[in-house]
This record gives sequence, structure tokens and C-alpha cells, in this order.
Amino acid sequence: MSISIEGLDADGRLRLSPRDEDQRDAALRWRRRIDERLAELIPDGTTEPRPLHESMRHSLLAGGKRIRPVLTFQVDTDLGATEDQALDAACAVEMVHAASLILDDLPCMDDARLRRGQPANHLVYGEDTAILAATALLNRAFGVIAECDLLSAQTRLDLTRLLSDSVGSNGIIAGQFCDLQIRHGHGDDVAGLTEMYGQKTGALFVAALEAGARVAGVDDVWVKAVREYGVNLGLAFQLLDDLLDTFGSREDIGKDTGQDDGKSTLASRLGAHGTQQEVHRYVESAASALEPLGRSGHQLANLARSYTRTTMERVVAF
Ligand code: IPE
Ligand code: IPE
Ligand code: MG
Ligand code: MG
Ligand code: MG
Repeated sequence: MSISIEGLDADGRLRLSPRDEDQRDAALRWRRRIDERLAELIPDGTTEPRPLHESMRHSLLAGGKRIRPVLTFQVDTDLGATEDQALDAACAVEMVHAASLILDDLPCMDDARLRRGQPANHLVYGEDTAILAATALLNRAFGVIAECDLLSAQTRLDLTRLLSDSVGSNGIIAGQFCDLQIRHGHGDDVAGLTEMYGQKTGALFVAALEAGARVAGVDDVWVKAVREYGVNLGLAFQLLDDLLDTFGSREDIGKDTGQDDGKSTLASRLGAHGTQQEVHRYVESAASALEPLGRSGHQLANLARSYTRTTMERVVAF
């Protein structure tokens, strides 16, 4: 039985409008460009030390939805910049994300076995190499920004600060730290969990979006609007991830399910129905945040709604 969501057709199928189809085609094309470029931006698997580079490539090039770099492309092109200008900034965001996944899966963190449909990095290359590969990917992300010669020096500085803030001890790292504390029963009220989700997941969504806006060189009102969209979309995204952990299938999501069993999450606090309502509330807040952008924000709002719809379709209660 699927968890029903308001606004879905009675047969539970997603019907794509022509606008959805255009956007889906653009996202597929961007994903291909991102995949090709990522493969060029790190050393190939024959470069010494080989196991380290293979380990980096194992996680970075294993697929994944590429939603963060797609968001960078969407903002960038909606706000008037070119795809070429956005490409390396988008790839840098994805490198940060891939690094965070390697670390997240380690035995001392979530002790996960499957990631992106493949064995977790540490199971193939060992924990020592996995940690070094994650650090190397994170480091390379900043090198890629520095080398973006289609961008002005000021934009590269802005992107460096942005990525550094999103990873740092007020961003992903803070969120991951608090996640571990929560596992031990500290700060697991709804407010604490919401703040932690904003850090571990929301911060990189915000950075991906602001990166697109900075590349497009728009003014601060628009930057603020896309950041606000990112905060809300990031929360919706992590709530959906919680639902997939409980109600998704391992084959479908390409990672272990039941990782959150026995752990306080927002989904366990709110229940499946409450979580679904919160997802919709955050997605609509995300869309509202884009009002200052007028028509330029329509595609982004559509992207948040269609990601939510398609993910909800994959959530199977059993
Ligand atoms: C997984 O992110 C980590 C979370 C923040 C929930 P994604 O769901 O975007 O993972 P990939 O990139 O598609 O593998
Ligand atoms: C997101 O939370 C962690 C990161 C910031 C990488 P999860 O631990 O729930 O992510 P998944 O479910 O393992 O992808
Ligand atoms: Mg985790
Ligand atoms: Mg995890
Ligand atoms: Mg999860």
C-alpha cells in the first residue's frame, strides 16, 4: 500500500505535464554533464596511489541522484547564467556530498553496508583509505572552485566561503555530530532534530542553491530567496529520506533500510502521516520563498514538488 498524498491522482500514478517533461529532460541532461565532468575532475584510477583514487572514484562516480548539482544548474540557468559557468561549481558541491556519504557510512557513524547500490566505500577499500578518500574529495572541491576560470575572482571567493560554511562546524559536520549525540539520547526533541536536519542536510542544499545564484551574479534579495527555498527543501528532503529508511526498499534506494531503527528521527517523532504533512508544509514554504523571483522561480518550485511526488510514490508501507 502506498502512503497516499494529497494532490496525487486517484490511481496513485504521477502524471507528467509538458512542463514537468521539459524539466525532467533538462535534469537528465545536466546529470549526464555532471557525471562526465566529475570523472575528469579527479585523477583516474591508474594514477598512483591507485587504491586511493579508485576509492574516490568508487563513491563519486557511482551514480546518485545528483540533486544538489542539478539545483545549482536550475538556479543558475533560471537566473540568466550559462550551464558552462555553473558546471564546476555544481561538481564541487557534489564532491562535498560524496565525501560526506563516505564518512556517514563508516562503522563509527552509521555503519552502513550499501551506498548507491554498491558496497560502502570502507567495505571495499578499508576504513583507513575511505577516510583519506573522503578528505581528498573534500579538499579537491575547493581546488575545483579555485580553478573555475569562467568565474570572477570575487565569485570564486564567495563560493569558497559558502562551501566552507556549509561543510563546517556550523554545517554538515555540526549536524553529523549532533546526529551522533541524538543516537545517545541527547537533544532529540522536535526542535533539536529540526535544527540538526538543517545542518546535516539543509546546509549543503542552501550552498548548492546559493552557488547557482552567485554564479548568476544576482542581487541579495534573490540570494536570500533561494537560500530560504534551500532551507525548506533540505528539511523536506531529509524527512523523505527518513520515510524511505522505514518504508522504502533496499533495491530501490540503493542503500540499507532500517538504519534509523531504534533511533529518534523526525519521522519517528511525527509518525508517517505527520511526516508527510510536514514534507508538504516545507515544500510549500520553499515555493513561497521564491515569490520575489516571479516567473524565474517557477521551475525551482516545480522541482521541489515533483521530487516530493515521485519520492512519495516510492514509499511503500508494508
Ligand atoms: C543522502 O543524500 C544523504 C542525505 C542527506 C539524506 P542523497 O539522497 O542525495 O544521496 P545520493 O546522492 O542520491 O546517493
Ligand atoms: C544524512 O543523513 C547524512 C549526511 C549528511 C551524509 P543519513 O545518515 O540519514 O543519510 P543516509 O540515509 O545514510 O543517506
Ligand atoms: Mg547519518
Ligand atoms: Mg546514514
Ligand atoms: Mg537516512
